[in-house]
Amino acid sequence: MNDPNGLCFFEGLYHVFFQYSPGSADGTTKRCWGHFVSPDLKWFEYKGIVFRPDIPEDSDGAFSGSAVVKDGKMHIFYTGNVEHPGNYDYINEGREGNQIHVVSPDGFEMSPKKVILKNRDYPDDCSCHVRDPKVWIEDGKWKMVLGARTKDDRGEVLFFEAADPDDWHFVRSVTAPDMGYMWECPDLFELGGKTFLAVCPQGLDHEEFKYQNTFSSGYFSFDRDNYSVSDLEEFDYGFDFYAPQTFLDANGDRILIGWMGMGDSRYSNPTTSLGWQHCLTIPRRLELEEDGRICQIPLVDYCEYKEGEPFAVVLDQNEEQGPFTICVGDAVLRFENEVLSLSFGSSGCGRDIRKVRCSRIRDLKILVDSSSLEIFINGGRFVMSSRFYPDNIPSVECCGCSADIAGILCS
Ligand code: FRU
Repeated sequence: MNDPNGLCFFEGLYHVFFQYSPGSADGTTKRCWGHFVSPDLKWFEYKGIVFRPDIPEDSDGAFSGSAVVKDGKMHIFYTGNVEHPGNYDYINEGREGNQIHVVSPDGFEMSPKKVILKNRDYPDDCSCHVRDPKVWIEDGKWKMVLGARTKDDRGEVLFFEAADPDDWHFVRSVTAPDMGYMWECPDLFELGGKTFLAVCPQGLDHEEFKYQNTFSSGYFSFDRDNYSVSDLEEFDYGFDFYAPQTFLDANGDRILIGWMGMGDSRYSNPTTSLGWQHCLTIPRRLELEEDGRICQIPLVDYCEYKEGEPFAVVLDQNEEQGPFTICVGDAVLRFENEVLSLSFGSSGCGRDIRKVRCSRIRDLKILVDSSSLEIFINGGRFVMSSRFYPDNIPSVECCGCSADIAGILCS
């Protein structure tokens, strides 16, 4: 599996669709959409495949997209990927990125697929890489952002609008200097009265404390009047996080779910030999901090968890802060000289080290499951998400700090 898709709350149920390559743990089969539902974002039930690449306009994959609930119907928008056989570069020729609209009365039964945008509808400076529609309704208008790569290799977001969800027109594009060759999976949302534009840039230069992964994922604060953006803030500093999507839950809170994976990485996931790979993050509620940054709060009250379920470590540091280390099996979380680092031994399967610069650690929440680690730092101001594959149930040891263990994993 890869990206979460079509996240929404509809008639009492959460729908979590996702990119699914059935039958190939390495993702080589054509992408479908798989489907989970949940009453509460804690317990999920798999419902099967909803979209397969079965029309000419999505013949090489039903790629990522989103869902909007309007007048008792679920509207899904996704990208139909087409790769023509031949000697093409598949960047400027040989590829189609078709946007497709499907309507569902109940979240399960789907209408026929309707193609609403094709490559000829995008601005002339776009390459063939245009995908991942995120749609919302604002002031009675349908609005869409699409991720794109220009012919001169810049990542950008295309803004479209519509009065009728089958009839879209281009409004304008948004880019930023030196921010990679392609932006995937855009998302535009409001939080605490501010507007944010999230994107997944590919092709950023890797630095010691920034853009440490092959591909990146972050958000700009977005000026709606000028369509201008701030500097990018990263959503996550771990090894495995990409293609997040946000939506509103039943309480009107903005929730983010990310893909806990990373394309083209040098590290691996040994589950491929068992026929599967990757997972999604725990859903996270987004909150705005006073400094305009976004905090992510896991939608899991770890105190609810009893023995036999995932465990969390809670750490409070009120005194003077010296160096400290927390080990979860052979995963080492080390704070020293204003840097928090996460490194692995053999359980990391090639994952080496990731770092966050942070002058003080106020609190840490560490959610550990049998092959995942999600570390929430300072109320979720920084997050590090990683897969790891310990042989045994990892034990937690703290050195230089104290921790309350709220539960322990045993499956
Ligand atoms: C991001 C992505 C999207 C695309 C999908 C295909 O991980 O590359 O841009 O729609 O995955 O599975």
